Amino acid sequence: MYDLARSLLFRLDPERAHDLSLTSLDWAARVKATRWMAGAPVDDPTTVMGLTFPNRIGLAAGLDKNADHLDALGALGFGFVEVGTVTPRAQSGNPKPRLFRLPERGAIINRMGFNNHGVDHLVERVKASRYRGVIGINIGKNLTTAVEDAEADYLYCLERVHDHADYVAVNISSPNTPGLRNLQFGDHLDRLLASLREAGTRLDKRSGRRVPLAVKIAPDMDEDEVRLVAGALASNGIDAVIATNTTVSREAVAGLEHADEQGGLSGCPVLDASNRVIAQLREALPQLPIIGVGGVDSGQAAVSKRQAGADLVQLYSGFIYRGPALVRETARALASSR
Ligand code: FNR
Repeated sequence: MYDLARSLLFRLDPERAHDLSLTSLDWAARVKATRWMAGAPVDDPTTVMGLTFPNRIGLAAGLDKNADHLDALGALGFGFVEVGTVTPRAQSGNPKPRLFRLPERGAIINRMGFNNHGVDHLVERVKASRYRGVIGINIGKNLTTAVEDAEADYLYCLERVHDHADYVAVNISSPNTPGLRNLQFGDHLDRLLASLREAGTRLDKRSGRRVPLAVKIAPDMDEDEVRLVAGALASNGIDAVIATNTTVSREAVAGLEHADEQGGLSGCPVLDASNRVIAQLREALPQLPIIGVGGVDSGQAAVSKRQAGADLVQLYSGFIYRGPALVRETARALASSR
């Protein structure tokens, strides 16, 4: 069924197809057709970061940037849904076209640039939603905020979303906001993590509810850089890491149509690089919860993330190519992989 829908959707411009799919999904959820599309949710409860997840498969950030489709996406059997990236103020993102498919490799290149309606809109949408599953809220900085002032944007978003998130994801790895990825290194990283930890602990105390902080990193790091990031996460009391975001490398897609478009590459070509980063993080920090993401398009690929050391696994590009059936397939594969 999704194969048919996909062959129609893939004739449209990718961003129009994206919007149309989500609108159709909202409609399907309203008439309770999502269970029929996705099958029964996989029951494989697990506790990570002190939170109980009904299964280990989540939706990655960026598909529902504004939490406008939370009810529909939440009805597809995901064990958790991450919304955002959201910034303090609304912004329109990069000019279109900014989303490209590379179907030969099950890949996507995007340079969306944090197009979103701002954190207050997202919070209102989360409050209005009927979804009661685990929700992560992914936060970033506005394009017009200088990298030196990024901390203020993250703190502003953390303060706004804290009461409405089960965990907060700190996105410092999008390649589409100039300078953002510099926050992954050196003093920038230490200062940012220290002040987020301090604010998070203060907000936890005020609300009487502990909201774990997870940091999302890029796959474009060598082993030494991964080790330095791991050290900074541990010394600043960060609860989890999300590995990884999209890659700026084009090695795996060289020569294909759209391969030279600027932006982040996701899907199958990023699987190995993401798994390498996960394995290096796991080696450096045996106890750190890891959410593995990048290139999962099958049960087997999801299991490869677990074998690399991930506790939970997220989907994005695979979900675009394979549709809702991938949620059940991957959740089942992980449930029987122990
Ligand atoms: C993304 N991703 C992303 N990540 C993030 O933290 N914030 C975001 O706003 C976005 N936006 C976004 C848009 C589009 C169109 C894509 C394809 C991806 C990255 C995503 O969450 C994930 O980390 C990567 O895509 C790797 O996973 P997949 O796609 O290979 O499963």
